[in-house]
Amino acid sequence: MKNFKITKLLAIFIAIVIASCSSDDGEVVFTGPSQTLVQASFTYSISSTNPNVILLNNTTQGQGEFTSEWDFGDGEAYTMDEPGLEEVSYSQPGQYEVRLIVTNTAGFTVASQTIRVDENGICPNSVCGGGGTDPSSLKGAANGFSVGTIVRDNRLTGMHDEVIRRDFNNITSEYQMKMNIMYPSEGTYDFGPSDAIVDYGVANGIDVHGHALIWHNATPNWVENFSGTDAEFEDMVRDYIRTVLERYRGKVRSWDVVNEAIEDGSNELRNSVFRQRMGDDFIEKCYQMARDVDPDVLLFYNDYNMASDSGKRAAMFEIADRLKALDLIDGIGAQLHISYNGPARSEIQAVVNGTVSRDLLMHFAEIDIRTNPEGNTSVTSLSSERALLQKDKYKELAEIYTDIPQANKFAFTVWGLKDNESWLLDFWGVPDFPLLFDANFDPKPAYEGVLEGFQ
Ligand code: XIL
Repeated sequence: MKNFKITKLLAIFIAIVIASCSSDDGEVVFTGPSQTLVQASFTYSISSTNPNVILLNNTTQGQGEFTSEWDFGDGEAYTMDEPGLEEVSYSQPGQYEVRLIVTNTAGFTVASQTIRVDENGICPNSVCGGGGTDPSSLKGAANGFSVGTIVRDNRLTGMHDEVIRRDFNNITSEYQMKMNIMYPSEGTYDFGPSDAIVDYGVANGIDVHGHALIWHNATPNWVENFSGTDAEFEDMVRDYIRTVLERYRGKVRSWDVVNEAIEDGSNELRNSVFRQRMGDDFIEKCYQMARDVDPDVLLFYNDYNMASDSGKRAAMFEIADRLKALDLIDGIGAQLHISYNGPARSEIQAVVNGTVSRDLLMHFAEIDIRTNPEGNTSVTSLSSERALLQKDKYKELAEIYTDIPQANKFAFTVWGLKDNESWLLDFWGVPDFPLLFDANFDPKPAYEGVLEGFQ
């Protein structure tokens, strides 16, 4: 790369000197470069006959002469672009940075995209998923997307570990990658729990979804009561986002940058300290900060009640549209804390349709399905009738997810492993059985429902 840079810079310098000088009457006249820069661009697709082969398409457009060279990210020498598609094979799982370098007399530009490869071949959209060959496990049954659950640093051993590794290939930290935990006081980070979680994911080949950089409900007190100016507040947020994203670069594949920014009822932006200090465009600012640090990590907007509340859904898609126009968002996380009896399939489908029509990835991000939404305090166990209704709803979600176009699939994430660990017990303060496993880690009918829905 160093040699490449030096050679290129020399070539550009010579080209500029030639283009810049005329000496017909003995004077040296600076005329400027004769060409304008050409913006390199390319697309790629996965071969339909070999899942380890990509077909690279140089889509660069420009006036006049230019040359195009490929760096396939495999450590080999650069290759001149030939007419037609370039076929490249990646047989080793890993991450490859493919670059196209386009040069003319005005200089050169580089387009780059990350290609991810897992044991099944090249991952569509650079999103690896599916995996495992055991079709009786959740991840084995999923076709071309990840299946996720949540973790805590002290729930990564024993049965938790066994079940996570058998069924899941995506993990989200339940609360330890939120700002109040990672950045408890000004200038002092605590990455103990988050490192343990990310290390566990990396060690076990499980993708990590970062959740959540900015959330009004997990903002440390010192940030709520920030003593500096607004400009200093914004610098602090930039520094925090940079510190976290740099630490987990290449280890966390996706982040919820802003979580739950929409106010209940009004569907206006919540008047969080971030909005107050950074302005109504604080969301765009935060996503820009994240993109600037790590252009490869996938950025999501995550929120709840998107299926049940069409007004909130519209407000969320407005945020997504603003971010998308700036190329700052890759996907939507629909939390899907729902109940056995609603919202309706069509409402859930509407979230998917809005996401797909915007060409974004869809994350079913925090699935749990209440069996006791009536809040009956005398319920002591899950009736077989409710267990089957819950199974049907899980199956419905899994079917909806499976039917999403491949290019928009990302992950189907359940918010917890076993019923007695669900956050809903505290949140609603009534008994419930919202997850896929019972308190003994035995799969419930709900688990079978997901397996059936994935078929
Ligand atoms: C919840 C966790 O499950 C709890 O352990 C924590 O105390 C509070 O947060 N929406 C979200 C999640 O985006 O981060 C929340 O998780 C549940 C609602």
